Parts: sequence; C-alpha cells; structure tokens
Amino acid sequence: MSTGSPRVLPAEGDLTEAASVLRTGGLVAFPTETVYGLGANALDARAAARIFEAKARPSFDPLITHLADAADLEALVGVVSAGVAALAERFWPGPLTLIVDRPDVIPPIVTSGLATMAVRVPDNEYARRLIATAGVPVAAPSANRFGQLSPTRAEHVVRGLGGAVDVVLDGGPTRCGIESTIVDARGDRPVVLRLGALPVEELEKVTGPVTVRQGSSGQPVAPGTLAAHYAPRTPLRLRDAGTLPVEDGVRRGYLAFRDRPAEGWAAVEVLSTAGDLTEAAARLFEALHRLDAAGVTEIVAEPVPESGVGRAVNDRLRRAAATWHSAG
Ligand code: TXA
Ligand code: MG
Repeated sequence: MSTGSPRVLPAEGDLTEAASVLRTGGLVAFPTETVYGLGANALDARAAARIFEAKARPSFDPLITHLADAADLEALVGVVSAGVAALAERFWPGPLTLIVDRPDVIPPIVTSGLATMAVRVPDNEYARRLIATAGVPVAAPSANRFGQLSPTRAEHVVRGLGGAVDVVLDGGPTRCGIESTIVDARGDRPVVLRLGALPVEELEKVTGPVTVRQGSSGQPVAPGTLAAHYAPRTPLRLRDAGTLPVEDGVRRGYLAFRDRPAEGWAAVEVLSTAGDLTEAAARLFEALHRLDAAGVTEIVAEPVPESGVGRAVNDRLRRAAATWHSAG
C-alpha cells in the first residue's frame, strides 16, 4: 500500500490541470464507462513505466491505449483492416478494445514488447475530454493493484493506490462496472481475447460468429487474463447448486444474483433483484469491495445466467475463485 494520498478533483470541473499532469509524465486516474483507469501519456516510456510501478504490475502485461475519438485511430496507427474499422465504427465510443499493429510512436513498454497494441475509445465524456485536452493518447490499465478488484468508484482508487497516483478524477460510479471486451478482429474470424462489458451476442450481430479464446490455463491470449485475477482480499468460492451454509461458526459473506439466500450469512450482497444482468455487472466489483470490507472470513458467490454480459460476470467470479484455489 502506498503512503500519501492523491489529489482528488471533480471530473465535471476544469480538466486543464489534470490534462497537464498527464501530458508531463504524471499519473491520472479517471472514470470510464467500464472501470476507473490509471492513465499515463502513452507516448512517454517513463510515464508508462510509472503505471507498472504503481500497480506492481508484471512487465509482461500490456496496457490499453485510450483515444478521445474514433477519428484519432488512423492518425495514430494508419490504415487498419476492414474488420477492425467496422467494429470501431459501430461500437466506439464504447466498451470494446481492439487489437492493431503498434505504431513506432508508442514505446514498446506500453505493449510489453508486443508488435500489437490494444486500443479503445471510452464512452465517458470526462475521459474523452481529459484525453482530448491532454492532446496525447493515454495508456491506462484498470486503476487497481495487480490481481485485485477493479475500481468502479474514485474512493476504490484512493484506497487501493494511495499516493502512487498524482490525481484522481472523481466522476462517480462507473456505468458498466466491468472491463471492456477485447477483440482481435484482424483476421477472417474475430477472436474474443477477454469477455467484457460488450456482450458477444452484440459483436456477432456485426461480425457473424466469433471465437472466444481466453486461456484459463496455459498461456493466456490477452496476457493479463491470468486464471487467478480480479480477486477480493477475502477468499472467494463459487457456490455449487444446492449447497447451504455450513454451521461452523465461520463468518461468511454471500454474493447473490437476484434472490436473497436463506439466513446464516454474516453479510449479503444481491446484484440485481430484478434479475437484470447489466445491473448485476455494474454492481459486481462494488459488491465485492463491500464484502471485502465487511470482515467476513470467506465469500461464497453464486454464478449468474451465462448469457449476454453474464458471461463476463461469471468469468470474473471464476478468476477470483481461482486465486484462492491456486495461489492461496
Ligand atoms: O475496460 C477496460 O478495458 C479498462 C479501462 C480502464 O479501459 N482497462 C483495463 O485494462 O481493463 P487492464 O490493463 O486491466 O487490462 C488490459 C488487458 C490485459 O489483459 C492485457 O493483457 C490485454 O488487455 N492486452 C493489452 N494489450 C494487448 C495486446 N496487444 N494483445 C492482447 N491483449 C492485450
Ligand atoms: Mg485490470
């Protein structure tokens, strides 16, 4: 945990100062529609290095470059394939990250030495205004320490990163609550490298059938999608259908999809009483942050229906559970 605290500025205010911190090599955490990002000038290798340091992120895990506008893509990377262009046209600004060739102006540290670069235009007016005012592409991973829960509120960033970040722009809770979908659309058939806030079904309306290829074992395709990831500090396990709390005196928290479980839990979070998967995704990390803070010894989580953004919610739950099964 870093000492000190960042300056917290309202995102609806004047962004000149935050933009100048960014441009001159500082770290600015900012809201997007998915989760809060930890931004640095993507043209500046030293600034990008600070991101890895602040997050304690391994150098093999590449960053996503954020642009203010879809029209900025060609200026940065030149002409892209028709598949990439079609998805950018349809879904930007929005929770979709696309893979393109890394241009020479982006230092290799941003892409962890890969010849490709992940890029997106966030659907958040503060983020876009910040990037436009800074006048540079902005490299930004989620603004949490490596392997931990993604932040959906400014206070999650302050608590998690402290003084390791210079400025936090507070734009309130994020709308989607779960990270962007990452797609490699350079070939004939698009490949989903990370499930995320843009449902596969939406993508397929534009592209036809896609392949979902994200490793839960072996070498992950998006290097950051390790099996163990997105974890609360409290051990989490996925509930098998039909299991009930054990009466052994252990304080357990419960993460439910829509219905409250039977009595016997020390803390309960219900993701969506209406059974709405979009609402559940928006509340997932926030609920896990709260269960973490509730002082329970274990979190038991219920999977959500495996459709739409529900696939990404279950993906995050499985990874959080894997942390405690594999790494302990
Ligand atoms: O919604 C989001 O995508 C958020 C907001 C802040 O934009 N960002 C985010 O970044 O989730 P991060 O760093 O937590 O996850 C980025 C993922 C990692 O899994 C990384 O391996 C993958 O993107 N990635 C980055 N560059 C890549 C590349 N060239 N090829 C394949 N995967 C890449
Ligand atoms: Mg992350």
